[in-house]
Amino acid sequence: MAPPCFLSTVAVVLVLAVAATSTDGAFGCSASDRAALLAFKSALSEPYLGIFSSWTGDACCSRWYGVSCDPTTGRVADISLRGESEDPILAGSGRSGGLMSGRISPEVCRLDRLATLILADWKHISGPIPPCLTSLPFLRILDLVGNRLTGTIPADIGRLSRLAVLNVADNQISGHIPASLPALSSLMHLDLSNNQISGPIPHDFGNLRMLSRALLGRNRISGTIPASVGYMTRLADLDLAENRISGEIPATLGSMPVLSSLYLDSNRLTGQIPAALLRSRGLGILNLSRNGIEGEIPDVFGSRSYYTALDLSHNRLRGSVPKTLVTAAYVGHLDLSHNHLCGPIPAGSPFDHLEAASFTNNDCLCGGPLPVCK
Ligand SMILES: *[C@@H]1O[C@H](CO)[C@@H](O)[C@H](O)[C@H]1NC(C)=O
Repeated sequence: MAPPCFLSTVAVVLVLAVAATSTDGAFGCSASDRAALLAFKSALSEPYLGIFSSWTGDACCSRWYGVSCDPTTGRVADISLRGESEDPILAGSGRSGGLMSGRISPEVCRLDRLATLILADWKHISGPIPPCLTSLPFLRILDLVGNRLTGTIPADIGRLSRLAVLNVADNQISGHIPASLPALSSLMHLDLSNNQISGPIPHDFGNLRMLSRALLGRNRISGTIPASVGYMTRLADLDLAENRISGEIPATLGSMPVLSSLYLDSNRLTGQIPAALLRSRGLGILNLSRNGIEGEIPDVFGSRSYYTALDLSHNRLRGSVPKTLVTAAYVGHLDLSHNHLCGPIPAGSPFDHLEAASFTNNDCLCGGPLPVCK
C-alpha cells in the first residue's frame, strides 16, 4: 500500500476514533443549529469518504468534520467541505477527488450566524442555490464551485453586505447577473466562470470597489463592457473571455491602477484597441484574440511594458507591427497571427525568441522569423 494511502487510512481511523470517544472537551451546538446541520446532511450523499459519518452525536462544534463554531457565541459559523483539497483524508483517498450528490437543503439558512459555506468540487451536487442564503447576514464566503448546480443566482444577493467571496464557477447556473450584485460592497473575489449565465453585465458593476478578481468567462454574457469597470481601483484580474460581448473596449480600462490580467478573447468586440490600454503599466496578460477588433495596433510600448502574454490574434488589425514593441522590457508569448498586418517585422531582443507562428496568416508581413522581405 502506498504511503499516502496508508496515512489517509490512519487519518480516517483517527477521525472516527475521536468522534467515538467520550465527550470530554467536546463542544456541542444549539439544538436548532444541530437540527439544521442534520437536515443539510440528509439532503446530501457522499458514499466514498464517509465524511458525514462524523456528523453524529452532540459535539457538532468540535467533532463534526468540516463544521466549526464561533467560540464566543457557540453558534455554527463555518461549513467547509471540499472535494479536492490538501486534506490528507481526501488526498489519499485513491480518487482524484471526492464525489457528493444531492442538493443544498434550504434548512442551512436556519444557521443564521453562518459566515462560511464551502461545498466545493464535489462534482455531482445538483439543484438550485437556495435563495434563502441571502438572509444570512454574517455570510462572508460562499464557495459552491465545481458542482452541477442549476437555477439562477438569487436576485437579492446584494443584501449580503459582508460577502467577500462569491464563487459558483463550474456549474450550470443560468439567468442574468442580478441587478443587485453591484451592491455587494465587501466583495473581493467574484467567480461565475463556466456557467450558462446570459444577459448584460450590470452598468454599475464598477460600484464593486473592493473587488480584486472578476472572473465571468465561459458564459453567454452579452451587451457591452460597462465603462464603470474602468473605475475599479482594486481590480487586478478581469476575465470576460468566451462570451457574446459586443461593442468597443472602453478606454477607461487603460487607466486602472492595478489591472494585471485582462481576458476579453472569443467575444464580439469591435472598434480599435485603446492606446491607453497597451500603454498601461502593470498589465502583464492581455488576450483580445478572436474578436472583430480593427484599426492599427497603437505604437505605444516602452521600457515599462512587460507582457508575459500578448495575444491579439484572429482579429481585423491592419497596418504594421508596432516598432516600439522591441523597446518593451519583456514580451513572453506574442500572437499577432490571423490579422491583416503588413510590412517588415521589427528586429530586437524581445523578438529573438519568437517563432513564425506568432505572425502567420497576415496580409504581407515579412522578415525574421518569417521569410525575408523582398
Ligand atoms: C487567448 O484566447 C484564445 C481564444 O480564446 C486562446 O485560444 C488562446 O490560447 C489565448 N492565448 C493565451 C496566451 O492564453
